[in-house]
Amino acid sequence: MKSALFPGTFDPPSFGHLDIIKKACQFCDQLIIGIAHKPGKKEVFSVEERKEMLQLITSPFPNVEIENFHGLAVDFAKKKNALLLIRGLRAFSDFEVEFQMALANRRISGLETLFLMADEHHTHISSSLIREIAYFQGPLSDFVPPEIESLIRKKYKGKGVA
Ligand code: COA
Repeated sequence: MKSALFPGTFDPPSFGHLDIIKKACQFCDQLIIGIAHKPGKKEVFSVEERKEMLQLITSPFPNVEIENFHGLAVDFAKKKNALLLIRGLRAFSDFEVEFQMALANRRISGLETLFLMADEHHTHISSSLIREIAYFQGPLSDFVPPEIESLIRKKYKGKGVA
């Protein structure tokens, strides 16, 4: 069975992440979504909340497994017998940092990274934008799947109103 790991912080997950998940599911027998703890990145949603949101939006895909991990993504990939890392590219500005990370990951583990191009309708999406729009009670329907919108709203209830 060919497994791949899609690591990310998913704080919160978005249509952009779902697009990459859908595409990756066509290439591998099993897609592991790894929720990372990134040192220095302040997380708004707990791991449990991110896991619940990812479970809701990936329920149509039987070959998806969701787990959180500490430490290096490549160590988690090896533990799960994943053969590849999956990352999405939205714009040229993503490339530089992703290229460096892919080279470092290959150097320390031998694992390759497969890049998937984001759908052009989703290149404007990022989790921090979603958090800001949610904070000010703005519309989220173009950014996150409807199944998780209410969970995001709940988190920001009463915030950002004058
Ligand atoms: N659609 C929408 N948004 C996307 C996206 C897509 N296709 N691809 C990336 N993003 C956004 C995310 O929403 C996030 O937005 P934000 O910064 O505004 O919150 C941003 O791009 C980056 O998110 P993410 O893809 O989760 O990457 P990250 O930089 O937070 O984390 C890890 C990358 C988790 C893969 C990496 O840090 C990791 O593996 N950490 C473990 C330690 C490790 O192995 N480090 C690497 C050593 S070489």
